[in-house]
Amino acid sequence: MFRTRVPIGEDILNRRHFLGLAGIAAGTGVLIPVSALAAGKPTRPAQAARGAAGPADGPFSVRMPVPPTLSPVARTDDTDVYRLDILAADLELLPGVRTKCLTFGGSFVGPTIRAREGRRVLVTYRNWLSEAANVHLHGGHVPADSDGHPMQVIDPGAERLYEYPNKQPGTTLWYHDHSHHVEAEHVYRGMHAFYLIEGEDEHRYHLPCGDYDIPIAIRDAQFDAGGQLVHGDPRERNVILVNGRPKPYFRVAARKYRLRLLNSSTLRFLKLNFGSLPVFQIGSDGGLLPAPADRTGTEFPLAAGERVDLVVDFSGLAVGSRFMLTNQGQFTGNDEIEQVLRFDVDRTARDHSRVPDELRPLPELPPATVNREVKLSFDLTNQPIGLINGKPFDPDRVDQRIQRGATEIWTITNGDAATKYGPIQHSFHMHMTQFRVLDRDGRPPLPGDAGLKDTIPLPPGTSVRVQATFADYLGRYLYHCHMLEHSSAGMMGQMEIVD
Ligand code: C2O
Ligand code: CU
Ligand code: CU
Repeated sequence: MFRTRVPIGEDILNRRHFLGLAGIAAGTGVLIPVSALAAGKPTRPAQAARGAAGPADGPFSVRMPVPPTLSPVARTDDTDVYRLDILAADLELLPGVRTKCLTFGGSFVGPTIRAREGRRVLVTYRNWLSEAANVHLHGGHVPADSDGHPMQVIDPGAERLYEYPNKQPGTTLWYHDHSHHVEAEHVYRGMHAFYLIEGEDEHRYHLPCGDYDIPIAIRDAQFDAGGQLVHGDPRERNVILVNGRPKPYFRVAARKYRLRLLNSSTLRFLKLNFGSLPVFQIGSDGGLLPAPADRTGTEFPLAAGERVDLVVDFSGLAVGSRFMLTNQGQFTGNDEIEQVLRFDVDRTARDHSRVPDELRPLPELPPATVNREVKLSFDLTNQPIGLINGKPFDPDRVDQRIQRGATEIWTITNGDAATKYGPIQHSFHMHMTQFRVLDRDGRPPLPGDAGLKDTIPLPPGTSVRVQATFADYLGRYLYHCHMLEHSSAGMMGQMEIVD
């Protein structure tokens, strides 16, 4: 294998920066490393690797690819059947350079699975890596043995069948590795892809579709001088990859597009900005909002793993004009990473799509019968150990027993307002169900909390109340910080749904 594992206890975890711990400005949702402020700007992106590729490889010289759509190997009345390989691949991420990646199906971002609400998907994954891996459908409402539990891995050379019933509202999900202690590194090195569920009701809304419905995964990366991915100090992750390419352009028609944005970083918070372009938020993690929200001129903060579903209107732009999507999130202060993606308007096109007045009503919120408290924090005595309610993850321990069908309110607190490294940011993600955000420290939810959610930012010292119903399936599922270096270091709990 070309790389070494980074399990907890190894030297790299002794370096506090690895977990993104240092000097986090509280309250802003933006993380600013103290040493980066003191030392001026962070280092520039992998110049050596890019320099080798010649003069045509400056910013906005590569096209943003749209991840390929996976074709089923069989279809029945009610099921689409897929096969997908987990394999290492040498891929061109930086222009003219080959980078060793861990992939689903040989691409970075992996192939998109397009499912339909109520129609089952079966995927058999074969693991061609020389180490164990697995697959978790993030945001999926799936049986426990198809959820990619960290202890249910696919050994090298083996395969495993995952069943996805798709009995949930249409939305933008993604799938990624979830192997015990190595999920952060596996995802960092490439194991991530989209899984889109089209709602039974979706055609009714006349949203932009087909070539005008574009999933976009945005994440950071560090490359060494030879163009290889470095999974080290997160402050050095100074290249933003958009669907796997740095600073790409994307040609658009002067019309409306549906853009499904995913922050596929393992740690980094994004704060994306479309400037003056008309932008309507139509959905969040778990499905469409009851009505579109005009969010023109607002920022879109996204924690690692979060999604936002938008209609962006380019019709006011002249053919030949260009528009920049920018990011002002964590670790910036470096001009190089504030520009993320350039839209080049190169044609006009008919547009029968709409931003309707109303979308899908949210499901009923039955009264909650149970209240729980969950606190995320670090033990920083020696090497950082991630904790939930004071304990690191133990696959043999059940932390919460939940009655099937119960509706519960969870109060989730970030206990790291004042550590020896300063305040520390976390996020919260729950498997198996989608939740609603009730309030944050007694105040109304943030705009990004709207609708059905599975992943939310949890700023230092704050707490948030969420309400969820745990229906249908029995068994063990996870909840955790979705800063994956934090979950890999133990910041994860286990719930068991029981009868
Ligand atoms: Cu996206 Cu448990 O993870
Ligand atoms: Cu998940
Ligand atoms: Cu965390």
